[in-house]
Amino acid sequence: MHDLPHAQHAAPRSPIRGPALPIGVAVTAFGVLLSIATAPATTSSESSAMPEPVAVMQVPSVEVEATTAADPCAEATVQQAIAAGDDAATIAAFGGGESFRAAVVAGNAPCVSLSDPGRVWVVVNKGRPLDPAEFAPGGLSAVPLQTTTASGEVRADVAAAVGRMAEAAEAAGVGRIGANNGYRSYGLQVATYASHVEEQGQIEADAGSARPGHSEHQTGLAIDVVACGSACGGLDGFGGTPQSDWVAAHAWEFGFVVRYEQVGSAITGYAPEPWHLRYIGTDLAAAYHAGGFHTLEEFFGLPPAPDYAH
Ligand code: DAL
Ligand code: ZN
Repeated sequence: MHDLPHAQHAAPRSPIRGPALPIGVAVTAFGVLLSIATAPATTSSESSAMPEPVAVMQVPSVEVEATTAADPCAEATVQQAIAAGDDAATIAAFGGGESFRAAVVAGNAPCVSLSDPGRVWVVVNKGRPLDPAEFAPGGLSAVPLQTTTASGEVRADVAAAVGRMAEAAEAAGVGRIGANNGYRSYGLQVATYASHVEEQGQIEADAGSARPGHSEHQTGLAIDVVACGSACGGLDGFGGTPQSDWVAAHAWEFGFVVRYEQVGSAITGYAPEPWHLRYIGTDLAAAYHAGGFHTLEEFFGLPPAPDYAH
């Protein structure tokens, strides 16, 4: 029904690459404590069930001084930023994207919930359903791109970021970028997933479509992009286009990561989706890029989630 692509069928070949930076090298805000933060787990395992796969900095909205405290969640700047709902200021208060990540991985950030669906750092996967399951984000806004489905809204910050990204892509000469699905409600995900099961069977559907309550699209933080000429193409046609290559290299500069890469399939449980961009904000996306990460699970030291519990 809505555009979701047909899953592809080649097993991932490459082991997941760990971060490019030595452990602790970018950790400055918390000194020794955070310098022991571990790199993401690497794996050479290949998926048995999975098919094949494949960022102008936003200034924090509030100027804050980075904490150097051993207990960052006890710091007033961190507490105020979290209470204000200001994700960028929170990350800045931790000392930036890499310090934030390292604190989370080290278990030194109990005030940061990776389960909060209203935060840019939320991690949703097959083992981490949205809570509440029928969560709906506030502040949705129309994506400022040509859209090819009725699901043309995302969170306002995401809409602005994808607009900037598309402008930069066009300025770089790679062509126009359009939007396929942005926000999908729980109810729409019910229908979307069901249509995939009906058309493809459950195993293939689970490799390309999240079950209801498990989709990043329900957070308003995800958007599927397409390549446009005189008209816009579909999802399956996106990989291999100049737009896709450019997005893979530059989406992080605008706060996005390509969430489902070939190399991450054994961890995410999804076939590659070069079109599915997940907004995590420019600070975290810069750390993700600099660290050579390929999944949010590795970035935040979470376990792989290739399958549902039941
Ligand atoms: N296609 C992605 C995995 C979703 O349904 O959220
Ligand atoms: Zn998507």
